[in-house]
Amino acid sequence: MRTLVHLSDVHFGRSEEIVVEQLVESVHSIQPDVVAISGDLTQRATPREFERARAFLQMLPKPQIVVPGNHDLPLYNLYARFRGGFDAYKRYVSHDLEPFYLDDEIAVTGVNTARRLLIKGGRINEAQMLRVEEHLRGLPDHIRKVVVTHHPFDLPPGYRAGELAGRSEQALGRFLVCGLDLLLAGHLHVSSRGPTAIRLGCGARTAVFVQAGTACSTRGRGEPNSYNVIRVDQASMEIQTLSLADDGFVPGASQWFERSSSGWVRNSGEIPTGAPDAGDRR
Ligand SMILES: [Fe+2]
Ligand SMILES: [Fe+2]
Repeated sequence: MRTLVHLSDVHFGRSEEIVVEQLVESVHSIQPDVVAISGDLTQRATPREFERARAFLQMLPKPQIVVPGNHDLPLYNLYARFRGGFDAYKRYVSHDLEPFYLDDEIAVTGVNTARRLLIKGGRINEAQMLRVEEHLRGLPDHIRKVVVTHHPFDLPPGYRAGELAGRSEQALGRFLVCGLDLLLAGHLHVSSRGPTAIRLGCGARTAVFVQAGTACSTRGRGEPNSYNVIRVDQASMEIQTLSLADDGFVPGASQWFERSSSGWVRNSGEIPTGAPDAGDRR
């Protein structure tokens, strides 16, 4: 079994230090095998914000799979945005915008969906799809396959398709053919999870998509700060959201999925027939 911590949208510049400390302590208590961070490390991509993000990453367990979000590109300084682009992210966080982790149970691949030409939205391009396919294709069946992005490839109910990463439908279909098990994303600042593919019409096979709320910023959309813990093995997947309460981050109810011939289904045995379900809202 592997334990993943999935957190997102920490938005240094709009974060609260006490919450950051509680978050770091809580994540260490989980003793994760991998920490996935799905972007928006900063609010305005300033050096000071990136310095704090770097210190935060250094405090968290490793290995880490970190990808940029749209807020990790300069917004108002157009010269910095279009000439510099991800320079500050590379300087303070990592030169690798699309890290990859593999052990004998799990493969986790990051995809950078943030774009200089898109203020808020994101997309995946052909080269990135090919790279993910190269990573996933040919891995043994017992390896669980995870893709981490900032912009979502599937959505909770009530969200417009415009919130999806551009070309995500095509990418999802191709990744499912390669045995994709799990998508981890952020950007919406809303915690949710559910089966993929029915709404996007990607065929019979189903992966699980998980959205993380904002882990420690003040930009929660009516939700407390939260992060996800995912425990996955050959046959089952447990997804649990830990939400900020008076005494720190508190685990909520788990949701379970089972692996079937058609992919991942809720452990009730029901094959999903409607839109993806939102997770427990806390
Ligand atoms: Fe964000
Ligand atoms: Fe974002």
